[in-house]
Amino acid sequence: MRKDLKSITDGIAKTMQTDSKNIKNSHSEKSKRKLLSMSVVKKNSKGNTEKDLYDYLYPKFGKRFIDYRDKYENYLKDEKHKYLPDFPISVILELVNRCDLECTMCYQGFRNDAKKSTLEIKDLKKLFLEFKTRKLDALLLSSSEPLLYKHFDEILKMAQESKIMDQFLFTNGNLLNTKNSQLILNSSLTRLFVSMDAATSETYDKVRIPVNKKLLNTNRLKKVEESVINFINLRNSLGRKIPLVRVSFVALQTNAHEVEPFIEKWIDIVDSVEIQKENSIDFYDDLLKKKFDKKKLLLRKYNCNEPWGQVTIHSDGTVGPCCNTVGRNLPIGNILNESLSDIWQGTKMREIREGFLNNKPSPVCQLCLEHEKLNL
Ligand SMILES: C[S@@+](CC[C@H](N)C(=O)[O-])C[C@H]1O[C@@H](n2cnc3c(N)ncnc32)[C@H](O)[C@@H]1O
Ligand code: SF4
Repeated sequence: MRKDLKSITDGIAKTMQTDSKNIKNSHSEKSKRKLLSMSVVKKNSKGNTEKDLYDYLYPKFGKRFIDYRDKYENYLKDEKHKYLPDFPISVILELVNRCDLECTMCYQGFRNDAKKSTLEIKDLKKLFLEFKTRKLDALLLSSSEPLLYKHFDEILKMAQESKIMDQFLFTNGNLLNTKNSQLILNSSLTRLFVSMDAATSETYDKVRIPVNKKLLNTNRLKKVEESVINFINLRNSLGRKIPLVRVSFVALQTNAHEVEPFIEKWIDIVDSVEIQKENSIDFYDDLLKKKFDKKKLLLRKYNCNEPWGQVTIHSDGTVGPCCNTVGRNLPIGNILNESLSDIWQGTKMREIREGFLNNKPSPVCQLCLEHEKLNL
């Protein structure tokens, strides 16, 4: 066994012995409240993930990679919206609207209740051809559970052939078995993001609820943890740093006491540990029932950069103007009958952008931002 691999494995064995009793006592109520009121995402990393990405992608793509990072940074900062790319910088793709979990904070309960829909390979082929021609920079396989898609291997192949530079997979890790890990390692995926939200099995069961309730109390967390470690060992044994592996944790009332133990458990194992703020889904029921008539504007300034940089393509082909699940209620077109390019530059998307430029957002955007800013 290589020395670095051995030290990782030893470290893992040690950190995996985290005692749940200690965890319960380790966080005071005060620090828990502070954490839950945090407005920013907390990223913990011992290495330099941006450099690792650069070392891997620059030799392959040269200036195109530098342009992507510049474009992305400008997009995040550009509150005046001076720059509009002629194609989205990143696309979030939902392959099938199903998940084997219904996490307490997630909108997925609504998705699992909706009619099943899945994108067909023939439509995806057309879409990926457009990604190739328009030189899409980043693709995020996320929303619902991507590894439940029947032809997931085909997706990885198409992403590689389309020469998309930065390719993300967001997963709950339940299907991150050795076969899928090898499939990923044979692809050009750059980032594997596994969501866990807990440091102990008890808390995992409170947040990450399985659709099949018989699986409760079966230590599903241990299986996911082992899969992540197995993936890292396989990757390291190939002498690779990519795909970068991130584990994440959405801080909630039920799990906030495990934030620090979670970071400690993973910080020496993965490339980054991310603690995220919850976006409330409390108003989602009303949204689906379209109970959001235009009301008084509650904020002085409404701003959102998303419609200048990214879109989400849902499993029925509908396109939303942002990464947010709320945007699902603001369809701007459908890739089954239009090109993404036409949708991106089309009337509906233009109206949404103008809404922000004139500080008169669409009712859906208004609701989304008010909930985020006012913590409703
Ligand atoms: C919707 S999931 C889809 C991919 C996959 N099923 C997973 O769990 O990673 C994508 C990410 O959104 C996070 N998430 C879900 N509900 C959220 C919420 N209400 N606020 C913030 N993040 C949330 C999840 O923890 C996960 O990291
Ligand atoms: S696993 Fe992902 S998509 Fe499924 S319910 Fe949890 S956060 Fe939502």
